Amino acid sequence: MAHGVLEINWQPSFGYAAPAPGRYPWHWLWDSCFHAVCWAALGDERAVPELRSVFAHQGADGFVPHMGYQRDPRAAVGVWGRAGCSTITQPPMYGHAVRVLAEAGLPVGDLAERAAAGLRYFAARRRGARGLVRIVHPWESGADDSVRWDGWAGGPFDRTRWMQVKLGLVRSLEVSAAGSAVANASFTVHPASFNALVAFNARELVTVTGDRDLAGFADELAGELGELWDPQAGTWPDVDDHGRAASAAPTLDGLLPLLVTDPGAGGPIDAVVRRLADERWFRAPFGLAAVARDDPAFDACGYGRGASWPHLNYLIWLALERHGRRAAAREVAGAWTAGAVASGFSEFVDPLSGRGLGACPQSWASLVVVPYCQPSRTVTAALARPAP
Ligand code: GLC
Repeated sequence: MAHGVLEINWQPSFGYAAPAPGRYPWHWLWDSCFHAVCWAALGDERAVPELRSVFAHQGADGFVPHMGYQRDPRAAVGVWGRAGCSTITQPPMYGHAVRVLAEAGLPVGDLAERAAAGLRYFAARRRGARGLVRIVHPWESGADDSVRWDGWAGGPFDRTRWMQVKLGLVRSLEVSAAGSAVANASFTVHPASFNALVAFNARELVTVTGDRDLAGFADELAGELGELWDPQAGTWPDVDDHGRAASAAPTLDGLLPLLVTDPGAGGPIDAVVRRLADERWFRAPFGLAAVARDDPAFDACGYGRGASWPHLNYLIWLALERHGRRAAAREVAGAWTAGAVASGFSEFVDPLSGRGLGACPQSWASLVVVPYCQPSRTVTAALARPAP
């Protein structure tokens, strides 16, 4: 089934799997990184062109746009003011993808250097408060409608109004001459999740390249996240432009610093594992809820407001595996699998009923095969700290 989903969504003329050709025909950065991981797990060499497609519009400054309009370059102009691609980015999952492909024995060639340049962009152009990486638009997080952005939503959350706000935030982007967003006077936040994913991907890449500068950058971000852990809230808060906690809303992606938490730091890891296993928090029969179930904002069918996401289940599963929390990882994989099967590989899933939501079938739902395909090197590797 997983292979079949990628197969039917594959775009042979462009060399990538669309997330879902009907609803999402364009190219998305982190989706294609996840697809590359899936192809590799399935032993399909399309992993390499899929990952290469991520860099199709990479700028000379290393910036990787979050969307590519390979099918119709002019379609980008209306929103982004340029043809071919967007001016914002997305979590740089290409560091992890390079590692997975390299470990599967696939030829990554220059893709490792491309990925390094993409990560260096964050170090050079995006560091802000407390040395953390800022995002300049909610879409950069990949979690467009997260409750962590509710402070910008202009009142109680309303999806239609929020879409207008997000389009307005495209207009206030400050874009460099090279076409890369660098700042936004109306939206600047240093999310725990985004910083965790930058640090994680840098460390993953460094296992392949041994790049010390990138390792140092990752360590700085991970160290700062270590300081930010809030034992009271049981999560890592986001940080505003003044270095203050912006939001500590109980979202699943707020727990992604688990990917880069020092294994010796028992406190956060134990607390997070407890919350993942607790039905008042994130545990649910058809996959982890994206928002704590006892939070007033929780909406089991809500896009980014509580429904279960395949890629977040994958990342949390991976973090648990890397920490050797096998039983907890198995629990996550079991519920996530039940959700993928019940929903027919949907974009996102009602974690209480298993009902499919959004597009179907969605390519990233195929991630669910990874726990069953590669119980070997990637999974058993110690927490990905690069060799000095
Ligand atoms: C939505 C998601 C984003 C994803 C895209 C394509 O915009 O929020 O994370 O990359 O769809 O699947």
